Amino acid sequence: MKNLVVLTGAGMSAESGIATFRDADGLWEGHDVMEVASPEGFYNNPELVLEFYNQRRAQLKIVKPNQGHFILQKLEGNFKVHIVTQNVDDLHERAGSNSVLHLHGELRKVRSTKNEQLVYDWQEDLVLGDLCEEKAQLRPHIVWFGEAVPMIDQAIELVAKADILVIIGTSMQVYPAAGLVNHVKNDIPIYFIDPNPSIKETDFNKLILIKEEASKGLATLVNRLFHT
Ligand SMILES: NC(=O)c1ccc[n+]([C@@H]2O[C@H](COP(=O)([O-])OP(=O)(O)OC[C@H]3O[C@@H](n4cnc5c(N)ncnc54)[C@H](O)[C@@H]3O)[C@@H](O)[C@H]2O)c1
Repeated sequence: MKNLVVLTGAGMSAESGIATFRDADGLWEGHDVMEVASPEGFYNNPELVLEFYNQRRAQLKIVKPNQGHFILQKLEGNFKVHIVTQNVDDLHERAGSNSVLHLHGELRKVRSTKNEQLVYDWQEDLVLGDLCEEKAQLRPHIVWFGEAVPMIDQAIELVAKADILVIIGTSMQVYPAAGLVNHVKNDIPIYFIDPNPSIKETDFNKLILIKEEASKGLATLVNRLFHT
């Protein structure tokens, strides 16, 4: 089976009702991203940051995977599918995808502010005073702006082995995630699904733009993969 590697961004979850952030003028649910997604923001106002992620975590109980997530899961019948997501939600897993690498962390995990190896599953609210086993404050297990992206090497390895690359719903503004596309083998097809794509067909060899929302665009992709 061919390796099909999929890079997903916030647009993948938009049809599930989770807001993207550049579509909202660079605000994430009404907040300046540096306020809620940077170490400085957490230092300045930890209560606000914890509450922000508590709301995002609570939202996961209401939203559901969309048709696009399920199409990606079904492709596992025909391809070795590896998903590399910038999303911090768990909708790929809940659609049944078996290989999901979270580049920017996960809402349903928290970690120690003192020892980043101490990571815990967390379903409910996180508040000041919730401590790790080394008695340090816990924080969301999210990669904030300015922080290292520990999973990037694994993501590069996956992208380098891709026979087909599919990119869905990302503005390609956040690095190093946006640079992953540069690690593909020469001449593999790259499909870019986004109603408002930020790159042009001429930017890469063999780039095929599908200017549609994730679920419709994935149905189009399936047609192309199986009928051309
Ligand atoms: N669901 C989530 O987990 C979530 C949501 C918002 C932000 N974030 C975080 O913020 C950062 C955002 O960067 P990004 O590039 O992923 O998102 P972004 O908000 O910068 O860009 C969203 C992209 O999705 C496209 N889009 C909008 N609706 C779509 C749809 N229905 N189908 C397909 N595409 C659609 C837009 O045209 C845009 O190009 C990431 O690091 C991510 O961790 C995560």
